[in-house]
Amino acid sequence: MNERILKLMQKGIRILGSRYSIIGGAMTWISESHLVAAMSESGIFGVLASGAMDGDLLKKEITLTKEKTKNNFGVNIILMNPKLTDLVDACGEAKISHIILAGGIPNRDIIDKIHSYGIQVMTFAPSLSIAKRLFKLGIDALILEGSEAGGHVGPVTTMVLIQDILLNMAGYPIFVAGGILRGEVFASMLQLGAIGCQIGTVFACCKESLAHENFKKALLRAGGRNAVTPVQLDKKFPVAPVRALENKGTEEFIARQKEVLQKFEKGEITTENGRLSLEHFWAGALRRAVQEGDVERGSLMSGQIVEIVKEERHIKEIIQSILSEAEMFLFNLDSQLI
Ligand SMILES: Cc1cc2nc3c(=O)[nH]c(=O)nc-3n(C[C@H](O)[C@H](O)[C@H](O)COP(=O)(O)O)c2cc1C
Repeated sequence: MNERILKLMQKGIRILGSRYSIIGGAMTWISESHLVAAMSESGIFGVLASGAMDGDLLKKEITLTKEKTKNNFGVNIILMNPKLTDLVDACGEAKISHIILAGGIPNRDIIDKIHSYGIQVMTFAPSLSIAKRLFKLGIDALILEGSEAGGHVGPVTTMVLIQDILLNMAGYPIFVAGGILRGEVFASMLQLGAIGCQIGTVFACCKESLAHENFKKALLRAGGRNAVTPVQLDKKFPVAPVRALENKGTEEFIARQKEVLQKFEKGEITTENGRLSLEHFWAGALRRAVQEGDVERGSLMSGQIVEIVKEERHIKEIIQSILSEAEMFLFNLDSQLI
């Protein structure tokens, strides 16, 4: 591999302990032992999605992953999970190297607890002030994830996060995620000071992904404009911004919001019950799409990058493309061809 790209990836490689400074972003129901081990075997840093698991289930999944790879991999934990401390304990006992905390801003207690096991903590930040605060609290690395990413997203795009946070925090260990796939963009992120990138959607439809064939096909056929966050009809009834492909479920969700609003206006339900009705609407929907192949009413979480994900490839092929595009880009830059 070209010296230049290796040098640019060096800091990320050191933090992750992987061959390349690319994180295979955790995807609930998709990032299970088989896919994560295959990622880590391919030289990137796989991350198990603990989703709604409890400690015992996570321990089993970690054991299964360790049976398939000796390489490093991390565990993604959602902060709202009521079993949060059990999940951290499970990672500690299993001597996991990294925990990626998602779905909120972690406090000092949870960061310290994870560190007490000698585990590195990575998490997400939506703004510069939060990013700075998180490093003060002791996190080991940050992931900037823009709103073009798949799944639960923040409101700000990758492009803006780069300028708000990355460029103002030179020297800090920061990965960038959301809408990244081509090697030229990967290399540019490294040149801008990122220590690596996190990539999700393309791996949901790679050959090693055990996601249902219907799910993969839906993503491979979709365009970027089909990967949307849901419309929110009224501020009183907030809707979680989850980027997914539009389907029948999306339409029915709007109808459910209208129904809730009408009932609320007639005094037939309380705000709390209305909110719960909307929260419950998508419960189990990602699992139905990923495991049962329900592409009509399941949740087809996906980033806008589906626009350029057109075929099912092996992880190694995907990584190879990224690296060779990155190398060629840097070579052309050096030769002043760009
Ligand atoms: C189907 C799906 C499920 C996801 N689930 C999670 C999750 O459980 N936890 C998390 O931190 N991120 C989750 N993500 C985000 C990814 O880890 C990753 O950051 C994102 O996909 C990167 O953007 P990209 O899709 O443009 O590559 C999910 C993404 C997708 C597409």
